[in-house]
This record gives sequence, C-alpha cells and structure tokens, in this order.
Amino acid sequence: MKKGQGQGHGYHRPVLLQEVLAVLQPGSGKIFFDGTFGGGGHTRALLEAGAAVVASDRDPAALGEARKLFGEYGDRFSFLQSDFGTVHERLAELRLGPFDGALLDLGVSSHQLDTPERGFSFQQDGPLDMRMDPRDGPTAAELLQSASETQLAEWFWRLGDEPAARRIAARIVRRRAQEPLRTTAELADLVSSVVPRRGPRHPATKVFQALRLVVNRELEQVAAGIASLRTVLKLGGRMAVITFHSLEDRLVKNYFRDLTREWDDRPEWPEPRPNPLYAFRLVNTRAVVPSEAEIRENARARSAKLRAVERTRYEP
Ligand SMILES: C[S@@+](CC[C@H](N)C(=O)[O-])C[C@H]1O[C@@H](n2cnc3c(N)ncnc32)[C@H](O)[C@@H]1O
Repeated sequence: MKKGQGQGHGYHRPVLLQEVLAVLQPGSGKIFFDGTFGGGGHTRALLEAGAAVVASDRDPAALGEARKLFGEYGDRFSFLQSDFGTVHERLAELRLGPFDGALLDLGVSSHQLDTPERGFSFQQDGPLDMRMDPRDGPTAAELLQSASETQLAEWFWRLGDEPAARRIAARIVRRRAQEPLRTTAELADLVSSVVPRRGPRHPATKVFQALRLVVNRELEQVAAGIASLRTVLKLGGRMAVITFHSLEDRLVKNYFRDLTREWDDRPEWPEPRPNPLYAFRLVNTRAVVPSEAEIRENARARSAKLRAVERTRYEP
C-alpha cells in the first residue's frame, strides 16, 4: 500500500488521490493550498510528499481533523476556516502564498453525509439542516418552508434532474400548509410517497442533492472559488478541481476554457480581441476520471472528474 492510502479514512476517503498528485507534483520546498480540507486525505498526501500545505474548509468540524496534522507536520501545515469563494482575501491578510498548486475537491465529505445531525442524509433521521457551515444562511427546512412552489420545482428539476419535480414541489406546499417539514425522514417519506422506488437508488436522492446545492450555494461557489484561487498561484502553479455533478463540471470546464483562450470573439466584433483572462494552459485536454479499481473500492468516486490548469503568464 502506498503512503497516504488506507490511513485515517474514517472521516472521508480521498478520491482520485494518485491523479491529483500526478497533476500537482508535490515535493519538498513547494507549498500548496487545499480549499476543501474535509478529512485531510489529499492534504496528508501532499505533506507526506514533503510539501507545505495551507488548508481551509468552511465546515468547523474539519478543524478536529486538522488538529491531528498540526502535531505530525509542525509548521509545514496550517489551517483556516473559510469558504473558498472568498479565501484569497484571507490568504492575502495572512500573507500566505503564492502557491505551487491549489486543490478544490467539491461537494460533501463522507463525515458530513454520515452524521445524521447535519441533515444531509435520507438514510438516517436528523434535522433538515444541510449547511456545511452551520453558522451560514438558512437551513434546508427554512428554505422548504419559504420558497415558492415554482422555485422548489425548478431546483428539483434543474439541480436534481428529478422528473417528478413539479409533483414533489406541490406535495411539499400542501404539507407545509398543515405542518412544516422538520426532519430528513419526513422529507424522504414525502418524496417516496410521490415517486415509487425503482432500482437501487432511494427515491429522495435527487431531491436531497438539489437542496444541498441550494443551501450551500454550491454552484455559485465553484465560479467564486476558481476566481479566488487563480489569483494565488505562482507562475507554473497548478489548480486542480474535482467535481461530482455534471452542472459543476460544466462550470469548471467553461471557466477553464475562459482562462486558457488567447482570443475573445463575438459575432458583433469586426475582429477577435485579446482575452484579458488568458494566463493559463490546460494540463489535460480531457477530464481525468477514476479507474475501475477505484470505483469498485469507493462507490463515491463513480461520478468524479478532475480538471486542471497551469499558470503560464500573468494577466496583462
Ligand atoms: C469532498 S470533501 C473534501 C475531502 C478531502 N479532499 C479529503 O481528502 O478528505 C469536500 C469538503 O469541502 C468543503 N466545502 C465544500 N464547499 C466549500 C466551500 N465553498 N468552501 C469551503 N469548503 C467547502 C466541505 O465542507 C467538505 O468538507
């Protein structure tokens, strides 16, 4: 077993670990930023390769895992609690960076999913919360209570790809007029009463996924995160992003295209103009996906896609 694998995976098992290391090429004398620390699987592997790491996560629970690394790696490791969409400001205040590489491993950790009190899981009952940072913004229960029927249907359809989006939204609105939905089991039961179970997936999977994306403003955070991290990379520094959702992957792909295109062109312009964002090259032309062996060992890796860019110049 390689170092960094099979250790400390109780909190979360890192996805595409070897592929991330191949892109970031850690080594001693290099410094990396990990914007989605989670259980620290990727960070630990970067540290084991001799690099220094500044990590952050918006979830205060990640600090407990980070503490384990302070003792082991001393001043090669530091941690701050922040969302990655604004983290460049914190890094500048603390005079941290520029970095040889930065990583965003999007979505939720297994720890978040498996802790019923956090409200992400339809498998175990808990309050309908779903906030990665429990101090930030309305809970899933509050959104289900306040959003219009049209808005709910739009979320389930667009973010969850749920064909029964309208019927589920209508049922939620009827139910909340009697009594608010308070727990994950109540929502899972309501969805199951509208959509019968077909196949191995729980009928509420898509609705839970859509709500989680809304509660944590995850799609907005993707663009903000890339915008934030592109400012903290050295020349030759690389940014790697792992997504688990097709909408997220499309955002990353399009943003990376904007960063790596030399010219902008529009039908109404007489000729192409230099692209002011152009300062990067794609590390891989296609998204890197997990091996079959990894998917067999870790079902969560199934939908993972890794994309990366490298800074080749400074913006004009
Ligand atoms: C898939 S897990 C990361 C797992 C980690 N790479 C590991 O190996 O353990 C995603 C983590 O990112 C955090 N996260 C998600 N969106 C975030 C955001 N916008 N800002 C900061 N952290 C975020 C979540 O709280 C979660 O802990």
